[in-house]
Amino acid sequence: MTVQETHLENVRRSQEKITALLGGLKPKLAIILGSGLGGLAARIEQPAAIAYRDLPGFPVLTVPGHVGELLAGRLGGVPVIVLRGRKHFYETDDAYPLKTMIRAVHAAGVETLFLSNAAGSLRPHIKVSELMLITDHINFLGLNPLTGANDDAFGPRFYSMSDAWDKELAAKVRAVAGHEDIPLHEGVYMAFLGPSFETPAEIRLAQMLGADAVGMSSVPDCLIARHCGMKVIGVSCITNMGAGLSDENLTHAHTMTNASLGAAAFERLVVATVRAL
Ligand code: HPA
Repeated sequence: MTVQETHLENVRRSQEKITALLGGLKPKLAIILGSGLGGLAARIEQPAAIAYRDLPGFPVLTVPGHVGELLAGRLGGVPVIVLRGRKHFYETDDAYPLKTMIRAVHAAGVETLFLSNAAGSLRPHIKVSELMLITDHINFLGLNPLTGANDDAFGPRFYSMSDAWDKELAAKVRAVAGHEDIPLHEGVYMAFLGPSFETPAEIRLAQMLGADAVGMSSVPDCLIARHCGMKVIGVSCITNMGAGLSDENLTHAHTMTNASLGAAAFERLVVATVRAL
């Protein structure tokens, strides 16, 4: 089998397993949990779980803080799928595991992908522990998961990213945040490849280019989801100021600790959003 044929088969087999796990639930939304935001998983009512390793073609995770399992259940009474962890492009140059994960969930009937991540702020008014609704992105990864032969079964070769982060859904998240009294910034997320954090000069570059937060994830997920026609919502949890903007020392442990500061607000926002959709 070619790589593409194997992928198609993996998506089909994983979709069957997800559909079986759902046991009749029909979620419209799947949530990918970012670094330090795994606590939302504990809020799932009557969860059914399957490890990524039991889903053909799904990513095998290596970063601490990323569990690697898919949960099906309800959040605030509403059916959802929760994806605990994903692989970053600093860990791999193989885009297929991430494609399999997103396309299998889509094939199982999910129309909307809610992306979350830990990010560094580029703006003084966007502070550590606060949330930022992603309104657009800059792909600074130097790669795109859709390069190479197009997987025609899932989407077209060329596709628009002019409405990548869904405006109607963003309006709903904004309204929910207002209603629930959750402070919510908005801005442009710029993805760096990592695994190193940025230099202060790179952070100044990102500011000049119009970004409001930087991170190492979510942009590939958005590219794959838009290719197959899913709608995308995204929220960043600010874990630090960008390099050089404060005197804190950036480490993964620091990211995880500070994500927990914003996690409660993040969880409330997701639960209220899911209810409002
Ligand atoms: N840069 C890149 N990725 C990140 C950061 C950052 O400052 N904080 C959390 N993830």
